Amino acid sequence: MAFLPPPQDRLRQFRELLGLSDTPEANPLTRWADIFLPRTAELADKVEGFVRSRAQLRIILENQPTGKLNANWRSWFGILFTSGVGEDFMAHVWKSGQAHVIHNIDHRYVTLAYNIARAFLHEIAVTALPLEERTTALTALDRAVDFSMLVETDAFVTYATQCELEVIQGISHQVRNPVSVIGGAARKLLRLHPEDGPEREAAGTILAEAQRLERMAKNVNAYMDITTQQASFRRAELDAVLDRALEKLAAASTLPLAPLAREIDPAAAVLSGDPMELCVLFACLLDNAFQYADRHDPRVAVKAYPAQAQGGFATVVITNNGIRFDQSKTGQAFSPFHSTQPTATGFGLPMARVIASKYFGNVTLAPLEDEGTRCVVTLPLFAG
Ligand code: HEM
Repeated sequence: MAFLPPPQDRLRQFRELLGLSDTPEANPLTRWADIFLPRTAELADKVEGFVRSRAQLRIILENQPTGKLNANWRSWFGILFTSGVGEDFMAHVWKSGQAHVIHNIDHRYVTLAYNIARAFLHEIAVTALPLEERTTALTALDRAVDFSMLVETDAFVTYATQCELEVIQGISHQVRNPVSVIGGAARKLLRLHPEDGPEREAAGTILAEAQRLERMAKNVNAYMDITTQQASFRRAELDAVLDRALEKLAAASTLPLAPLAREIDPAAAVLSGDPMELCVLFACLLDNAFQYADRHDPRVAVKAYPAQAQGGFATVVITNNGIRFDQSKTGQAFSPFHSTQPTATGFGLPMARVIASKYFGNVTLAPLEDEGTRCVVTLPLFAG
């Protein structure tokens, strides 16, 4: 996988939060360059000493061209005391986090290496700087090391997650073709065996499972897309979103959908989010509500009003009659692949929650007193 470009805005935010500036004049470390820079090789050798002391790190070091890693550590140290924590520094450290993933380095050891560097910097500060400058210097050194660790960790986590996502998406993509071939063959068998019998029954089971796997592969892709795409806070009218969610359900579901009772307070009629993603969220929740509603007289209702405890948010409550939700199963209900329905893929509730949390909202389930379940969704209101 290609290297990801540094997310400049996020990294600048980290820098601001740590009270660091990127202009060389304002970078306090340059003041002490004469004291620290002559010790560059010593710092790199300390980190190398640690790396050589751990067998799994030593192998990585020895597989690199001689002196390459030592040069990396020297350059990190050098930039800190010359140009400071500007764009070049961020790009350099950001790239290192990704290089650490590519070389399969245990991240805990990178953290330890940074702490060895920090201890060495402290030692120089307390032994070589005048007493009155020590506190300022120690604070500045700590901030610079903290910033490096933050940027490196961000790059490490982002890149590792992206690599995993690509593998998962690749698997689900690879599964879809063979599964649709299996489904086609099962349909052919059903045509060849029009009479009830064991062959027809077996072909029916194969077809149902192939269809379930096909849906699962699609859901995995949709779930990954939703997790990776940036949130987009746009105007989304709840009524229209519910209409589209119902159309989506009617096209996919075999269940007879009863009419949906709606009561939407005008003050909660316009939500903020990507209308397509909110449509997926409500399609998942309404599907669930209809699936578990009373079979003979299914009733599902939606009520929306401004959230009382959370300014700027709407509460959307979906209730049904029928099976009461078992609250001890909350963890399972929101985990992918878990479902009490044999033909379901177990992605509905996790998908709904992932979308809600993307917009800083939430989805919860609770049993109603006599029968049925109450699902509470919080989502931001559109501010205009
Ligand atoms: C103080 C902690 C560390 C710092 C400041 C650091 C810094 C860097 C930098 C600046 C790069 C080059 C990124 C680029 O291509 O521009 C890099 C790459 C790399 N680092 Fe680290 N690193 C640290 C810890 C470690 C540890 C503990 C290991 C374990 C062996 C390690 C192994 C590597 C490897 C294998 C590469 C890729 C080699 C290359 O392409 O240069 N690093 N690191």
